[in-house]
Amino acid sequence: MGVTVVTHPLVQHKLTIMRKRETSTAGFRRLLRETSTLLCYEVTRDLEMTTTEIETPIMKMSSPVLEGKKLVFASILRAGNGLLEGMLDLVPAARVAHIGLYRDHETLMPVEYYFKAPEDIVNRLIIVVDPMLATANSAIEAINMLKRRGATNIRFLCLLAAPEGIKRFTEAHPDVPVYTAAIDDHLDENGYIVPGLGDAGDRMYGTK
Ligand code: PRP
Ligand code: URA
Repeated sequence: MGVTVVTHPLVQHKLTIMRKRETSTAGFRRLLRETSTLLCYEVTRDLEMTTTEIETPIMKMSSPVLEGKKLVFASILRAGNGLLEGMLDLVPAARVAHIGLYRDHETLMPVEYYFKAPEDIVNRLIIVVDPMLATANSAIEAINMLKRRGATNIRFLCLLAAPEGIKRFTEAHPDVPVYTAAIDDHLDENGYIVPGLGDAGDRMYGTK
């Protein structure tokens, strides 16, 4: 299904500021929210449309609207929430799933601690969001969890990806397109993206 790198100048400019060591927690959160609206625009660019009959103050017309059931945004906790808010600004009627996973710092394997999704995810488009795709273990497992519950139409949206993560993710879920603002150079021995931006959750919430 492929990988789309969102090269929009505003996305790239904001990402550069987010990468900077000296960017504050408040600044990082604000920039991530702003960037997420731009990324949301790209990931929803080809949504199916239909038309509906409406009446303007001037005349009746047939006008375009989104087709199908409401979207689901699935946030991989906790850092996924940094993308979620801006996306909900653009698509306020979207349903939301929360997937609680954290990366064990020794094994780099995801540990599940929460899952809550709308019941009827089977026929909906689900956009899974997490700022970082590093080893891809978290994203792969989050999508396994959704697929086990019947989801078939899934996209994955992140801010930064490592080439190793892209490779593993597309091998594990070849049916899930990936959208990212950048693909960095490599992963370091601790599984951090290089040059990256550090730990996204810590930078968003000031926990380190
Ligand atoms: C970070 C990030 C991803 C994951 C990416 O979360 O938000 O979920 O790591 O790494 P991976 O591709 O190697 O799995 P973390 O586990 O630090 O949890 P947090 O969001 O609660 O900080
Ligand atoms: N998770 C992060 O938050 N940052 C990385 O660089 C890798 C995983």
